[in-house]
Amino acid sequence: MITLETLRQRKRDGQKFSMLTAYDSSFSHVISSAGVDVMLVGDSLGMVIQGKESTLPVTIDDLVYHTQAVAAGNQGALIMSDVPFLGARNTDVLIEQAGRLMQAGANIVKVEGGIWLTDQIARLKQNGIPVCVHLGLTPQFINSFGGYKIQGKSEEQALAMAQAAKAVEMAGADMILLECVPNAAAEGVMSSVSVPVVGIGAGPSTDAQVLVIQDMLGMTPGRKPRFVKDFLAGHQDGIQAAIERFDSAVKSGEYPAPEHQYGV
Ligand code: KIV
Repeated sequence: MITLETLRQRKRDGQKFSMLTAYDSSFSHVISSAGVDVMLVGDSLGMVIQGKESTLPVTIDDLVYHTQAVAAGNQGALIMSDVPFLGARNTDVLIEQAGRLMQAGANIVKVEGGIWLTDQIARLKQNGIPVCVHLGLTPQFINSFGGYKIQGKSEEQALAMAQAAKAVEMAGADMILLECVPNAAAEGVMSSVSVPVVGIGAGPSTDAQVLVIQDMLGMTPGRKPRFVKDFLAGHQDGIQAAIERFDSAVKSGEYPAPEHQYGV
């Protein structure tokens, strides 16, 4: 059984851990049996399960439903569930929604945002709810960003990201997830905090890597982002073997290779 303490110990020992999205009990069973440490019930389900254009239409009921399904198939991984768009609009709403996710089977919730979340994080912690803060390219802010764009490209932005990471850690965040940032920005965050940091398109310095399961199985149509690697391509050995390849490539540091990184 993987717990937050297992992940903290991995970080202290300099060992990487792995994370994949999961949305149903069959994949939950395969992913957790393959040795992946954390399963993320991400609001990416809006795109890969519901076929929507973005994560914005995903509701708390959707996330509760999929968290219950993932919990039912889990073979010992830690389950992280997303708080949906507008779920952190005030602290009472956040506590209520995060509480529902925990009752559905999550071990930790993930909130997109930044330095302004410090009060909400403290309240979650007072209520026994561990929290991961998602920084960098936060897809719920896509309309403010004007598209899926790399964040933290300038020195000032990278510094602000490291300061936000430190502030949310001080407020009680148990983990940080960094999406689509240049290696240098991720390194700045890594040297500012002591909680585990998970990366997606954030280079090799983070303590863990996460991918959307459909992306790492080559199931996503259209142009794939630079950081995506298809772990099934060129093999005939099935889904569980592809997931095991991802898990060992993350743990050995072989993934992400330079071709999956930004600002190398
Ligand atoms: O919703 C999700 O799947 C995510 C990952 C892309 C990190 O937040």
